[in-house]
Amino acid sequence: MLETEGLTIRFGGHAAVDGVSCAFHPGTLTAIVGPNGAGKTTYFNLISGQLAATAGRVRLKGRDITALAAPRRAQLGLGRAFQLTNLFPNLTALENVRLAVQARSGRTLDLLSRAARHQDLTDQAMAHLKAVALADRAGAISATLAHGDQRKLEVAILLALEPDVFMFDEPTAGMSVDDVPAVLDVIAAIKARGDKTILLVEHKMDVVRSLSDRIVVLHHGRLVADGPPAEVIHSDVVREAYLGGAAESDHG
Ligand SMILES: Nc1ncnc2c1ncn2[C@@H]1O[C@H](COP(=O)(O)OP(=O)(O)O)[C@@H](O)[C@H]1O
Ligand SMILES: [Mg+2]
Repeated sequence: MLETEGLTIRFGGHAAVDGVSCAFHPGTLTAIVGPNGAGKTTYFNLISGQLAATAGRVRLKGRDITALAAPRRAQLGLGRAFQLTNLFPNLTALENVRLAVQARSGRTLDLLSRAARHQDLTDQAMAHLKAVALADRAGAISATLAHGDQRKLEVAILLALEPDVFMFDEPTAGMSVDDVPAVLDVIAAIKARGDKTILLVEHKMDVVRSLSDRIVVLHHGRLVADGPPAEVIHSDVVREAYLGGAAESDHG
């Protein structure tokens, strides 16, 4: 479904992502882990097209998308949670999701459309808000939502766009503990559909362990481990990447 080959970006002399080759398959959830600054977000930016690669390729369903701009990649099925700044802060949560439903269904805004069709779009949008436990805030102006609710809204919009590939970069970061389960449940539900390709950057190891089929470890921009969670979590390379100097000092 999605593949990177030798994917690299240099900022000045520093390779933030360094020759990463990896393939991601439908029906699987791959956790991407690594210490802060490892290059996880930059890797996502290279895949979704927010950054242009210095070297290497990105392929989606066999098609080379390396030279395509981010919106085109999104049209082809790459889904990344939007930042709220890219949305319409003065519209309600429901209106923002409804616009995404409408964009996905390819219908242009038709002021003469029948009320029933309008209602259909609204119902679909409401279902996505329910899926992320945000139905009770449907009528709230997006800009006024609490941080956790804004992150949920991003996920609802992503659901509405129905991508083939879902990319989540620390989806629960900064959320209160009460909000976390709704977001994890919706990711688990996407996985349960069995046809979507999911990439998840996540620090919480219990979450990684319970949701992922596979763990890829980035360290200093390089892919240093790739395998089943049980193997990777206990591997020396992960211990070293996470513990660094602490592990060395243990030895002496
Ligand atoms: N636009 C940029 N310009 C310069 N350096 C960047 C830029 N984006 C990321 N970096 C650098 O790339 C490295 C990886 O960052 P990042 O991908 O955000 O790591 P992670 O998400 O794993 O914490 C860091 O050293 C960071 O400072
Ligand atoms: Mg990051």
